[in-house]
Order: sequence, then C-alpha cells, then structure tokens
Amino acid sequence: MSTSPRNILVTSALPYANAPLHLGHMLEQAQTDIWVRFQRSRGHHCRYVCADDAHGTAIMLSADAANRTPEEHIAMIQAQHEQDSAGFLIHFDHYHSTHSPENKRWSETIFERLEAGGHIAVRDITQAFDPEKGLFLADRFIKGTCPKCKAPDQYGDNCEACGATYSPADLIDPVSALSGAAPVDQASSHLFFQLSNFETLLTDWINSGQLQSPIANKLKEWLEAGLQDWDISRDAPYFGFEIPGHPEKYFYVWLDAPIGYIASHEVLCREQGDDFDAYWLPGGDTELYHFIGKDIVNFHGLFWPAMLDAAELRQPTAVYAHGFLTVNGVKMSKSRGTFILADTYLEHLDPEYLRYYFAAKLSSGVDDIDLNLDDFVQRVNSDLIGKVVNIASRCAGFLRKKFDNQMSGNCGEPELVQSFIDAGDEIAELYEAREFNRAMREIIALADRANQYIDDKKPWVMAKDETLEDEVQAVCSVGINLFRVLATYLKPVLPKMAEKSEAFLRCSLDWTALDAPLVAHELAPFEPLLQRVDADVVAAMVEASKSGA
Ligand code: MSP
Ligand code: ZN
Repeated sequence: MSTSPRNILVTSALPYANAPLHLGHMLEQAQTDIWVRFQRSRGHHCRYVCADDAHGTAIMLSADAANRTPEEHIAMIQAQHEQDSAGFLIHFDHYHSTHSPENKRWSETIFERLEAGGHIAVRDITQAFDPEKGLFLADRFIKGTCPKCKAPDQYGDNCEACGATYSPADLIDPVSALSGAAPVDQASSHLFFQLSNFETLLTDWINSGQLQSPIANKLKEWLEAGLQDWDISRDAPYFGFEIPGHPEKYFYVWLDAPIGYIASHEVLCREQGDDFDAYWLPGGDTELYHFIGKDIVNFHGLFWPAMLDAAELRQPTAVYAHGFLTVNGVKMSKSRGTFILADTYLEHLDPEYLRYYFAAKLSSGVDDIDLNLDDFVQRVNSDLIGKVVNIASRCAGFLRKKFDNQMSGNCGEPELVQSFIDAGDEIAELYEAREFNRAMREIIALADRANQYIDDKKPWVMAKDETLEDEVQAVCSVGINLFRVLATYLKPVLPKMAEKSEAFLRCSLDWTALDAPLVAHELAPFEPLLQRVDADVVAAMVEASKSGA
C-alpha cells in the first residue's frame, strides 16, 4: 500500500440545465462521490468538481417554453440540481456553470490554440432550416412519416414503430417539431475541428491500458472507421458563446462543456489556493479522472483528449464510464412510475439506502445497473439494518444497561479485531478499482462474522449470571470494536451514518487510525443509526412518480 499522498482531481459529467436530476444522474454522482470520499479517507488530496451544462438549442427552447430568459432558466435549474445533489450527500468541492466568465475565457483560449495550430477548417454545409422559427434544425427537431412502415409522427432519424433508421431527409412530409413548418435546405459556413490530426495521440491513448476494455474497443472502431472532422459551430440564434473572430457563429455546446471542468476547478483553486497549473499543464505530479456515462464516451475518449493536446494541456489519467440505470429491469418509464426524480426520492426515502444499494451493484464495468425495488428494500434492510447496525445496537444495549456505556479495559479478542483491520487492505484495493460491489460483499461478510461471534457468545444468556459480568462487557466491547471497523469501511458510502456512529463511539472513524481498538472507553448513548426501509413508502414514491409525469 502506497502511503505518499496523491493529488487527485475528479469530475462527473455536467448535467444539462434544462431538466431536473433523476436517479440515473444520482448513480453517476454517487459512484464518483464514493470514490472521492474513499481517496480522502486514505489521506490523499482529492478534489471533486462539477457544473451545470448550460448551453445549446434544447436549453434555449426550454427556457422559451417556460417563459424565462435562458439566464433565469439555467440559474433556477442549477439551484435545484445543487439542492438535489446535496440531498444525496454528494460533496462537490466546487459546482459551477458552463455559462460563466471563466468558461468563456477558457473556451476562447482553447479555440484560439486549436485555430493557431491549424486544426480548424471552415466550410459550407447544407442543413434543414425552420423558416418560421429562423433556426437550423437538429435531427431530433424534425418529424414526419416513416419511409419504411409509414407510421406518422416519427422523430429525426429512426422510427419508434418499426425500428428503421434513416436520414431525416428520407422522412415523408417532414415538418419542424418546433413550428410545424416544412423545413427548407439552407447552406451556411461551419467550423470544424480536424480530429484526424490527432490519430497518433488517440491511438496511443486507446492502447494505454487506462481505459476499460469495452470502451477502448468502441473507440478503436471509430478510429479504424476513420476520424471525421467535428462540427464545432452553430449559427445564431444559439444560447452559448460567440466564437472569437467568427461573428454570428457560436461554440457548439459540446465544445465548451468539458472545458467546464477546467473552469470549475479554476474557481476552486482561486478559493482554496490549490495550484491550478499543477493540474492542467502537462508533466505535473497530479491525476485527473472523469466519471461519465457510457453514452458520452466519444466526447471524452476522442474529442476531449485531442482538444487538450491541441491546447497544450495535460491528458486525463483515465476516463471511467458506467452503465445506465434501469428500474425493475427496464428503462426508466414515466407511466410505470419508475422515472424517479432525485427530489421525489428524497421526499420519501433516506439517501443512504440508495447510496448503499448502488455501491452494492456498481463495478468497474459498463454494464447497466438495475434498481430492483423489491431487492432494494430487502437488501438494505437485511445488510445495513439486520447485519451492520444490529451489531452496534445489540452490544450498546448491554453496555448501557449494565456498564454505564463503559467499554472493557482491554480488548477481549485482539486476533478477531485484528483480522477485521487486516481485511482493510483488500477492501481498499476494491474501492480503488471501483469494484464497489465486491467491497460491499467483503464488508457484509465481516458483519456476518461479527454477528456470528456475538451469537456464539450469547451475552443475553451470560447477562443472567452475575459472575459473568466481565465476560458480557468484554464480548459487547469486542462487538463495538468490530462495528467501528465496519463503519469506517462503509464511511465513503454512508457518510451520515458514519457521522452518527462517530457521535455514538466518541471517536472519529478514520481508516488510517484503526489499529488502536477502543479500550476503557466511554460511549455516548446509542441513537438509532438508520431506520428500516418501508416497502409502502417505496410504493408511494412510485405512485408519486406516476403523477409527476
Ligand atoms: N451535459 C452532458 C455531459 C457533459 S460532460 C462535459 C450530458 N448531460 S446529461 O444530463 O444528459 O447526463 C449527465 C450524466 O448523467 C451523463 O454522464 C449521463 O451518462 C448520465 N446519465 C443520464 N442518464 C442516466 C441513466 N439513466 N443512468 C446512468 N447514467 C445516466 O450528457
Ligand atoms: Zn417505421
């Protein structure tokens, strides 16, 4: 185990500022937050930044529909996002917006470096244009009749009725989804980032071993198919930053979005005195990790490393993609009540249940993660309440009633306690490797052993015999020491429960300080650490998610 502190910067993807967060977003933020809290608990300098992704046509239109200016709209949504994340105990060191002066300056700087490096091409393209709205139409804003099965009202480039894929130009009687007007073809000049100039860099990156293998394979496919120029400009009207030297042209939202990581971190450095250059210039002794969903791998695995390189900035240490959240085995669905918003969940349930459930399911892979609601109730109640919390509550009861919350003067089972501490190395490796599901399995197996120990000793039987008083105190003190180790291992996942446990144990749960068991130590009165999940409340949450649709 390496002991020298690492300097680590971590991000999760920037949520779009046009919709509330749902449990899929929380899966990503929980995964990131657990990893960050773990790094900190091991004594590393680890910072976590994020921001709202505030630009683009979709946001412009949703502000319009809500009768707000885009600025009002994104400010309102960002406030909700921050509140929801905080509700799930996600601890950002800084949360910013891509619509910020820092991001504008960095976007301009990076673009100017791309242009100066000869990586920007300008050429005309023809696109569908809505003559009524005066807007160019992305594929998803065009609808019409499917050319294959003739189903009406199909969006963009694929048919929901028959599954056909096609070009929007093939739609029969296409109309703008915004105005209903028939789109016309119109040419305009666009700026392109010439990705193919970075083929060597990207080949090395894909072969670096730093990427998950399904992700590396996907990127390799794109590389082998030939890297296409990337269209990074949009015409006015567009909510975003105007491109310096190219009036009336705006940066495509995905150009300035990842730059938001830099902007957010810059503000953090300014506030906290961290060394910004050490994180963003090449050659620094720092690490940079992006946690993302598997749907945005092209942006983070191809465009972003190329942009950073062209701008003479550092490369990410790794990009960690996760799979998508399904609920009860299928895509989240409003009609089934499984499209669950973060705030709907929080109105009904404790965030730590879901943090634990996600941890119990997350691995380093990119498979989808299923939230099965019956299994959720079962797993949380059985593992956390029935196994982990149970150790503390049953031992605390005897210590309070008979010993004034006073623990034994020596540790009755030093070997047992030591074996729990020794298990920490493997658990730490699993956390580090984002194998949270295996880490949770190890921890719960230890909890089983702790309960087994107490069951074998039967303090409730000994308590009836006055001559065995010391024994009862010893057994319960061992139980409390075992609980302390487990609560420490669970702290990255269950920070609130850890806080309550710290108050009860009257010591801080510190991974690096486990070696000294609590002896002759007075506990605070035991307060419930976590309530059972009630299946009826879960059902009520699902009902509420239906009506919110
Ligand atoms: N704004 C972009 C990201 C820009 S990063 C420079 C975006 N926003 S998003 O709001 O659509 O998604 C934010 C993150 O949440 C993405 O990593 C995405 O993969 C993740 N998820 C969105 N829905 C999800 C699930 N149902 N399940 C798991 N993650 C999901 O993309
Ligand atoms: Zn069809």
